[in-house]
Amino acid sequence: MSLIELPYDPDVERETSPIFERVAHVIPRVEWPLHAPYVAAINRLKRERNAVILAHNYQVPEIYHTVADIVGDSLALAMQAAQTDADVIVLCGVHFMAETAKLVNPGKTVLVPDLQAGCSLADSITAHDVRLLRERYPGVPVVTYVNTSAEVKAESDVCVTSGNAVKIVEALGAPRVIFLPDEYLAKYVASRTNVEIIAWKGHCEVHERFTGAQLRAYRADDPTLRILAHPECPPDVLAEADYVGSTQGMIDDVGTHRAARVLLITECSMADNVSGTFPDVAFVRPCNLCPHMKRSTLPKILHSLEHLEHEVTVDPSVAERARAAVERMLAYSR
Ligand code: 13P
Ligand code: SF4
Repeated sequence: MSLIELPYDPDVERETSPIFERVAHVIPRVEWPLHAPYVAAINRLKRERNAVILAHNYQVPEIYHTVADIVGDSLALAMQAAQTDADVIVLCGVHFMAETAKLVNPGKTVLVPDLQAGCSLADSITAHDVRLLRERYPGVPVVTYVNTSAEVKAESDVCVTSGNAVKIVEALGAPRVIFLPDEYLAKYVASRTNVEIIAWKGHCEVHERFTGAQLRAYRADDPTLRILAHPECPPDVLAEADYVGSTQGMIDDVGTHRAARVLLITECSMADNVSGTFPDVAFVRPCNLCPHMKRSTLPKILHSLEHLEHEVTVDPSVAERARAAVERMLAYSR
């Protein structure tokens, strides 16, 4: 893919200056001439193509704050994808998120700026693994985190996100469930319900690197610190947190508590993006970077819209069953 550099001319400066005013506290002025030509071109092309950009909370600020139409956690993106009347959806996130958008929008064009944007959790389990688990635990419902391939979703009874996992596991009314593939999210759900959880050994390569000792050291330094952690973190990390929840749950917690200093135990762009919304909160950032989320860039988004690449499709032999698992989740979330 050849990505051309666009010039920052007076027209672009004029057109994008209101956008820059909104993001000046998160994007340094010196960087704006690099981003602005892409921001202007992307926003123009979006209108021409009747396209919408859905961006996960881990996208870089120049995507999150300037070209995204909808931002949110995995649940919000799935719900909004199901509701959009745009012809084209550009999913700035990772591949499983785009597949989910395609499942609920089979007739629309769903694009990802970079096809390599994967996820260590999605890579940790195959459809064959799920079939073997079903043989081993006959009759036990299979609850699958959305961070999975469409093939794995197709073998599942219902999908969940970190934002609704506890609620859906409880709502199933079963004494035990198979919960795939994130071991730590499974343990977190098990700690919040009486339902017996059979887990898999998948891990998020970003969140598994945090440690409880790290959090205790920050807390010792500042006992007033409010610590928010994503449930993909190991149990000793979650034990130290004041709040555990999805990326959107963390943002909501920042807004509700308005703590002076907040420690975000998650991916690096979260603090940049949230501080755009809450400039009065000081974020402590022992963050870990998700290399997959960072594959989306403004030049690649422009390329996507210009060439309608890279289109995400789902094999029809799995799409119907995978869609059913996602639709069941969305029905629980309405
Ligand atoms: P959220 O659904 O909480 O946004 O999480 C998605 C994800 O990939 C976290 O690593
Ligand atoms: Fe996957 Fe972890 Fe990256 Fe989220 S942060 S996309 S779970 S690797």
